Amino acid sequence: MQTLRIGIMGCSSFARRAMIPALALCDDIQLIAVASRDADKANRMAAEFGCRGVAGYEELLKREDIDAVYMPLPTGLHEEWGTKAVQAGKHLLVEKSFAATEDSALAMVALARARNRLVFENFQFQTHSQWARLKSFMASGEIGAVHLVRSTFGFPPLPKTNFRWDKALGGGALLDAGAYMAKAAQLLLGLGLEVRGAALQMDEETGVDCYGEAMLRNAQGQIAQVAFGFDYFYQCRVELLGTKGKVSSNRVFTAPPDHLPSLSIETQAGNREEMLPPDNHYLNMWRWFAVTVAAGEYQSHWDILCDQARLLSEIRKAAGESARQRTS
Ligand SMILES: NC(=O)c1ccc[n+]([C@@H]2O[C@H](COP(=O)([O-])OP(=O)(O)OC[C@H]3O[C@@H](n4cnc5c(N)ncnc54)[C@H](OP(=O)(O)O)[C@@H]3O)[C@@H](O)[C@H]2O)c1
Repeated sequence: MQTLRIGIMGCSSFARRAMIPALALCDDIQLIAVASRDADKANRMAAEFGCRGVAGYEELLKREDIDAVYMPLPTGLHEEWGTKAVQAGKHLLVEKSFAATEDSALAMVALARARNRLVFENFQFQTHSQWARLKSFMASGEIGAVHLVRSTFGFPPLPKTNFRWDKALGGGALLDAGAYMAKAAQLLLGLGLEVRGAALQMDEETGVDCYGEAMLRNAQGQIAQVAFGFDYFYQCRVELLGTKGKVSSNRVFTAPPDHLPSLSIETQAGNREEMLPPDNHYLNMWRWFAVTVAAGEYQSHWDILCDQARLLSEIRKAAGESARQRTS
């Protein structure tokens, strides 16, 4: 397999602390350049990671020594720069959420389809080995038939200067935190989930949603309850509730590479803790991306992106009537 040559768009703090250190461990990928709107910033980050600094995102896309772009920009900028990147012939690993609206996601996927490029949304948690173990309970029978998946992801408020509070930049808790749980429900219960109800609480000052919840259901009648928000005690958890038992775990979306996952399993036979080995889902994600680009079959990944965008859009629609302004 040929080494995949990557350019990064934007000196994001998440890229710096998680994705670029993992990229350095991946034999299948080479970091060529990092671009910023500010040339000094690009050069500083490039020096830190041993690559080229590029002034401006357009300049990055002109480079012929780059096969794929990693885009950790605010969600509201993904359509503009994702479109330009695919038009420039690059494959694309886009940070979550892939797009601010379903129309935006569908337009990017249509272009990727026309140009035969992989576009993928970076939910690295799905590559963590703890998710393979969690998924095994859906079919193993150990907790019986799973009727309900309950998940929560919330954290204390970020400063109001953060792009997550800016509507024009694709801010809001649904796109930032709720998207993880829509993805988790999709992984556990399948594509095509129906939205049975949702609520979003709006922040009066910024006009973005600051917390919310939704109930989703698949054709087999399995239900997902998801709760998410910016203004919470930190929590990041999933529970599977079955006819004969229950499994729950914490840090399921954000496990750092040294985290030791632990599952709490309660059944009629008794309760136990199952310890799992640590895993580096950032590195797994890079490996997966390189292998998938090389494999050249992208249809199922485009379908998954479209389904996720539909789900978020339907949660927003279902919450429409119940969206409330936050006055405090
Ligand atoms: N997968 C995960 O687990 C995970 C975790 C955290 C964040 N994320 C995602 O990663 C992306 C970046 O998040 P972050 O926390 O790293 O944000 P951040 O530190 O603010 O980085 C965003 C970058 O976007 C660029 N940018 C371009 N136009 C901008 C504008 N008008 N306002 C703000 N920034 C602008 C900036 O780069 P230059 O100034 O260098 O051009 C900035 O450094 C988001 O999509 C977020 O959802 C994913």
